[in-house]
Amino acid sequence: MLSEVLHISAPGKVILHGEHAVVHGKVALAVALNLRTFLRLQPRSDGKVSLSLPNIDVKQTWDVAQLQLLDTSFLEQGDVTAPIPEQLEKMKEAANVPEDCAATRRLAVMAFLYLYLGICRKQRTLPSLDVVLWSELPPGAGLGSSAAYSVCLAAAFLTICEEITNPLKDRDGTSRWPEEDLQSINKWAFQGERVIHGNPSGVDNAVSTWGGALRYQQGKIASLKRTPALQILLTNTRVPRSTKALVAGVRSRLLKFPEIVAPLLTSIDAISLECERVLREMSTAPAPEQYLLLEELIDMNHHHLNALGVGHASLDQLCQVTAAHGLHSKLTGAGGGGCGITLLRPGLEQAKVEAAKQALIDCGFDCWETSIGAPGVSVHSAASLDSSVQQALGGP
Ligand code: MEV
Repeated sequence: MLSEVLHISAPGKVILHGEHAVVHGKVALAVALNLRTFLRLQPRSDGKVSLSLPNIDVKQTWDVAQLQLLDTSFLEQGDVTAPIPEQLEKMKEAANVPEDCAATRRLAVMAFLYLYLGICRKQRTLPSLDVVLWSELPPGAGLGSSAAYSVCLAAAFLTICEEITNPLKDRDGTSRWPEEDLQSINKWAFQGERVIHGNPSGVDNAVSTWGGALRYQQGKIASLKRTPALQILLTNTRVPRSTKALVAGVRSRLLKFPEIVAPLLTSIDAISLECERVLREMSTAPAPEQYLLLEELIDMNHHHLNALGVGHASLDQLCQVTAAHGLHSKLTGAGGGGCGITLLRPGLEQAKVEAAKQALIDCGFDCWETSIGAPGVSVHSAASLDSSVQQALGGP
């Protein structure tokens, strides 16, 4: 068992192209977002395990001895099947979160315990730990915050239990795990995602683990090598939406107008493939015209998504506001509100970016300038972390 303090981070994600079409077997391109979740794990020696999630007001402590008494035999099969309701009920009991607590909090605590018990149960005694996670990602905005959470926890527990090695060599550095260890992290993170989401596709935890850009189709995940680090504005319209209802809406439109909607899905698929081709070309022979192609693809896909019925006035407003500043945007994720992305060409004057950002904020939206294609789960020395992150994690 390792006795050092661990600092780990994992990114959120956005879907570049292919949302909704992916539900019908088409390709989706998902990219890691440079907004991250950070974890600090500190071994303690008082026989307690504590979890602190300052973003969502969770602070809980358990006696290790009490957790040790739990029948965790069901976890033997935990890494191959989705957790069943009886198992989740057990986690809920152990989590001991009041019934009136928001589901986000309850599920976060349950996923923590599931991963802690699932990964650490092979130790003779469960470790006594202090775990803090803090995120730059807004929860529930479709940006993969729960996947980044599960990835951080899986990486931390696997490292502390020496199931994977700590790759950090440099006191001032940041390191990533080798492929084999990333596979283990991803496998466990997927279980955490299942506790939180029920039946996720697995794309979010894969992007958060490997980072960069991924092509996802019918459960098959392929990393796109050497994608350029594109700059974007990420805008949260703050309009709440239900992914489930939006996905169902597309399905019923497809059933009602198959001759109209199926070609739209095929066209979105072609947009994803063309975007993948352009990104590949950008990594080998970058040219300014490639950004113009990406912008056209963004415009076309946004209109297609509107035709599928998953648009929203707030998302069209986002597109109009950015178009007035010469920028191109589309919705990302489920639509119906939620988030949109705006591509920032290299060499754009910062004053122009700031003006677009301000115009979006004036609409009541949250807006971040960030990059996509960020690195996946990483381990950091304390010295390499921003002081604001250290502070958020309660460090020195
Ligand atoms: C939501 O982020 C993406 C959708 O395609 C749903 C899904 O893929 O499960 C709308």
